[in-house]
Amino acid sequence: MAADLLALIRMNGSVPAHVAVIMDGNGRWAQERHLPRPFGHREGMKAVREVVEGCLEAGVEVLTLFAFSEENWQRPASEISALMRLLEEYIAKEVHELREQGVAVHVLGERSRLAPAARAAVERVERETAGGLRLVLNLCISYSSRAELARAARLLAEEVLDGTRQVDDIDEEAIRAKLYTAPWRDPDLLIRTSGELRLSNFLLWQLAYTELYITPVLWPDVTRRDLFQAILDYQGRERRFGKVTA
Ligand code: FPP
Repeated sequence: MAADLLALIRMNGSVPAHVAVIMDGNGRWAQERHLPRPFGHREGMKAVREVVEGCLEAGVEVLTLFAFSEENWQRPASEISALMRLLEEYIAKEVHELREQGVAVHVLGERSRLAPAARAAVERVERETAGGLRLVLNLCISYSSRAELARAARLLAEEVLDGTRQVDDIDEEAIRAKLYTAPWRDPDLLIRTSGELRLSNFLLWQLAYTELYITPVLWPDVTRRDLFQAILDYQGRERRFGKVTA
């Protein structure tokens, strides 16, 4: 049970509205058990469920998960197909409950690279959960931050070429509005599991003033208690956004 931590969170007050997570350590979790890597990814799916439910309980509004990077396409074909099957399975299994829970799922990334079955699953979950009002769940799939920024630059350049935008109008807000994450505020809290101290090409623009929380726990071992610990840690931070305190 994690009710003790939840009670503390509620007492402290300010819950991060947007939590982003680099779910890392699935491979190591499997290797420690002498299992093939996809077993770690499968176990990682349970942790996704835990963290989604934890966000609903704590009152987080947006949860953005790094599920598959553009760089991950370079992994062995067997691991890629296992991950894609898992994505399809996750959607097939969870779509009804996500809808019941009021979770609206969005998939961020270069979806043209997904196989037709995975793309159909992604479109289905977005369509069927579109009315969710309690939590936005962003799944970053075939996502990399530099590719997202290059795409934003291309979109702005096209507008300049077709005459709908002046070069002088390209400011931070214009770039922000072309990112996949445009509808949502920047993450307040980034959690990375498995102890690595890197951003791995994830939300480089959006994380400018995000509080970082690194835990050694491997992703498949994560429960809502780990999420609550991270939120409690966040609640003790002083956020200055580059300014000084009054
Ligand atoms: C990183 O661990 C994790 C991934 C590349 C995949 C994340 C996928 C899931 C958690 C399961 C499916 C999720 C959804 C939303 C359906 P790693 O393989 O890089 O681990 P390692 O660093 O220990 O090798």
